[in-house]
Amino acid sequence: MRNDRAAAVSAQIAYELERDTHPEGFPTLPLIPKARYTSQEFFDLEMDHLWSKTWLVACRADEIAEKGQYRLFRRLGKEVVITRGVDGEVRAFHNACQHRGAPVVGSECGKANLLVCRYHSWCYDLTGRLIRVPEEHDFGEFDKAEHGLKKVACDVWDGWVFVNFAEDPVPLVEELGRVAEDLAPMTMGELRLKGRLHYRIKCNWKAALDAFLEAYHVNAIHPKTVATLLDGKGTAIGLLKGGHSRMALPKKRSAAGGTWGTDDYEKYDIEGVPEVFRANNCAYGVFPNFVTPVDSAGFPFVVFWPVSKGECECELIFVGAGPEEDTAETSEYWRTFVANYDVIQNEDFQFLEHIQASLESGAFDGLTLCHQERRIYWMHEEFDRRIGIDHIPAALRVAPVLEPFSES
Ligand code: FES
Repeated sequence: MRNDRAAAVSAQIAYELERDTHPEGFPTLPLIPKARYTSQEFFDLEMDHLWSKTWLVACRADEIAEKGQYRLFRRLGKEVVITRGVDGEVRAFHNACQHRGAPVVGSECGKANLLVCRYHSWCYDLTGRLIRVPEEHDFGEFDKAEHGLKKVACDVWDGWVFVNFAEDPVPLVEELGRVAEDLAPMTMGELRLKGRLHYRIKCNWKAALDAFLEAYHVNAIHPKTVATLLDGKGTAIGLLKGGHSRMALPKKRSAAGGTWGTDDYEKYDIEGVPEVFRANNCAYGVFPNFVTPVDSAGFPFVVFWPVSKGECECELIFVGAGPEEDTAETSEYWRTFVANYDVIQNEDFQFLEHIQASLESGAFDGLTLCHQERRIYWMHEEFDRRIGIDHIPAALRVAPVLEPFSES
């Protein structure tokens, strides 16, 4: 993060610690219609106009570090093979043989020099080119060059692999904008996968994500965990272009690290991390579906995926520094780190099923958000911009009011 931006975050924290009145000029936020969380219509709009044309984090580049290593991305009703070619490039393809659609990869991850369909053995190289067809003469006029695997746009940002189902998407780093700029000092490309957590939750994916976009709840539901570590009163929020956002909470103890793990953090400290990321827990909301509470002691990407309008999955992918072989399976530090997060996640998730039931019932009209919850509203404004306001029925829209309060 640039020095002037870090100084602005510190100043905003100081202001928030003193503030006890509603910020002058900030609007009362309009109600967010509950049907955005419950209707099949809005879910379908998201599928058609949001998920199909947005960069989506898929895996870590270090999970496919070797030539020929691959991983399957199975989300949103799609199945994509992400693989590293012999030239070292990471590429993505729909997992569908161009003969009759059988998968060219059957397992979640693995290593292969060629992608061979198990149905009739059509064979593709790691660039997706069809290179062998058994008894090819029986296809008559047939050009293998026209039957390569269908590509999916794929790019790598600082060690994270993203895919995009649009034909010709804007470059990933352009879409990430300020997030990519601010997080460059975290050297995420040098970090390694340390562990994962996975949850399936009976609520709309946005209801689960909302819990990670505000700290208003911290004292109420995290009194023995987060509230002992971070000072929610000093929450400093930045609304960033593209629906992204930042939320910095000052740490109550050890500005050097160790927030989420054991006190053995020095071994795993990420070198060169700016003070703003040491003194505070800076959680970035990255449009459309993940947050990352960066910390020099290690941190996860917390990613949310829709399953249906009333069910979602949440996946935490932890990265950190220190010896590559130290992970949640082999090291006490990372085991504790991931286990502590698991406790906090379950605290965050405890009301979600009930919230979804309230949204589905007539007992609740929609979300009434306060100044501290404006990141949620900002995300909804961006949903409407991406989906296209003309596609959204008037009763399902949110009024755009936060642009004047965003950071340039
Ligand atoms: Fe793949 Fe026939 S479906 S070779």
